[in-house]
Amino acid sequence: MWPKFGQPHRQPSTTKGQLTCHATRSWPDRPASFCQIKTHDERAMITARHHPVHAWCCPVFTYSIGNMVFLHATRADVVRDLTLCVSPLDLGKSAYMKATHRPLFGDGILKSSGDAWAHQRRLIAPEFFPDKVRGMVGLMVSSATALVASWEGRMTTTTRGQELELRIDDDLRAYSADVISRTCFGSSYGKGKEIFAMIRELQKAVSKPDLLAEMTGLGCLPTTRAAWTLNGQVRHLILGVVRDSDDGGGSLLSAMLRSAAEAAAGDAAAAEDFVVDNCKNIYFAGYETTAVTAAWCMMLLALHPEWQRQVSDEARQACGDAAAPDAAALHKMKKLTMVIQETLRLYPAGSVVSRQALRDVTLGGVRVPAGVNIYVPVSTLHLDPELWGADARDFDPERFAPARARPLPPHAYLPFGAGARTCLGQAFATAELKVLLALVLSRFDLRLSPSYRHSPALRLIVEPQHGVRLLLKRRGP
Ligand code: HEM
Repeated sequence: MWPKFGQPHRQPSTTKGQLTCHATRSWPDRPASFCQIKTHDERAMITARHHPVHAWCCPVFTYSIGNMVFLHATRADVVRDLTLCVSPLDLGKSAYMKATHRPLFGDGILKSSGDAWAHQRRLIAPEFFPDKVRGMVGLMVSSATALVASWEGRMTTTTRGQELELRIDDDLRAYSADVISRTCFGSSYGKGKEIFAMIRELQKAVSKPDLLAEMTGLGCLPTTRAAWTLNGQVRHLILGVVRDSDDGGGSLLSAMLRSAAEAAAGDAAAAEDFVVDNCKNIYFAGYETTAVTAAWCMMLLALHPEWQRQVSDEARQACGDAAAPDAAALHKMKKLTMVIQETLRLYPAGSVVSRQALRDVTLGGVRVPAGVNIYVPVSTLHLDPELWGADARDFDPERFAPARARPLPPHAYLPFGAGARTCLGQAFATAELKVLLALVLSRFDLRLSPSYRHSPALRLIVEPQHGVRLLLKRRGP
């Protein structure tokens, strides 16, 4: 039975996943200290923006807004079937989201469906295969070394060997942008700087709550008008990078250009659209997500000096006499991988895995008619004490240890999404994060600044609303 307007109801009853709703609907926006951030739970903030409060309590339920019907699911068999559903003709991305986010994503890979998506996935996936990523580690190290050198420089000039207080977010964005620019587009962050700044403005514009625009798909509302203006400017800049790019034909950009020329068969405007849309998608997909994850990771390590020490010792050992890690050293850093995994469990950049049924499908025994939007709220799964244990809201990387006492719950860990549409940049992002954290932690001790205010905010991705403020001290030999 599918619901009428505003009528949430529970689909087949279940005994699993009954959470108690015990948190408030918004985060206390105040300075945080080690004592105040005892546990991590940003579901209140995500629920307030996107989902009815049932999202915490009911493993499967449906509701509708206007003529759009939504199915919320955290039940393992529903999530399993969504993961196993690989046909691009069964599940795609929500058409209404594509309309509202169009200025940011266009017809690129992130929001497209069906054959158009399958074509783009085939084209882009090989550029992120593990052997390609291993070949990019050197470029990542150059970008991370520049960041660490700039922090060391600021430390010398401003604090005479004392602790340096830093708001790290913009520097991490610059790092992530530099890595994407060099590895995927054969240019430097200098060239891409304006593009990234505008993509961030576009992200803010399209993530403003605008239910009317979402329901009607109207592009004439003020928020969408501003987004379209920005979009025109981004397009102009990206075409400039494409014209100037000089990467010897080996980058993702070159692959996109070749494919666009073949597919568009002489239609220059269509070829341009294909390249611009996918550049915007990759800039967005790989830029904010990694930078924000790095920020959460450093915040958590600053709160947990015992883990900071372990990861720093491991990085030094793995690198040996070398000043920076290579692909083999990254592979040895198991503790660091566990810390990144736990960070992504507590603060997954993507708050929901969303799909739209393109034709009637059955997920976990629930019949889902064509057109229904399916939402899997990731934090609800990641923080469920029935799945992860009573300490689900605590930072404990040990739960990802290779020889862990308790097996990971199946279909309950989705920081990189699910199934056929799982994140293409997973290996790339993990290498990028490991390079950065290994270098930073081998040079600095991190502490949380007393002025840090813990306030995760949802702007398409979950980010620290007021940034992350750290105190850095040079590490002894
Ligand atoms: C920590 C960093 C990252 C996180 C947490 C993350 C997370 C995600 C998530 C949740 C999805 C949606 C998956 C789904 O709907 O099932 C996604 C898709 C995607 N990501 Fe990432 N991502 C990260 C970094 C990157 C990087 C660095 C790149 C590339 C440079 C990238 C490229 C993509 C692409 C191309 C898709 C679309 C896949 C498709 O629809 O077929 N991501 N990512």
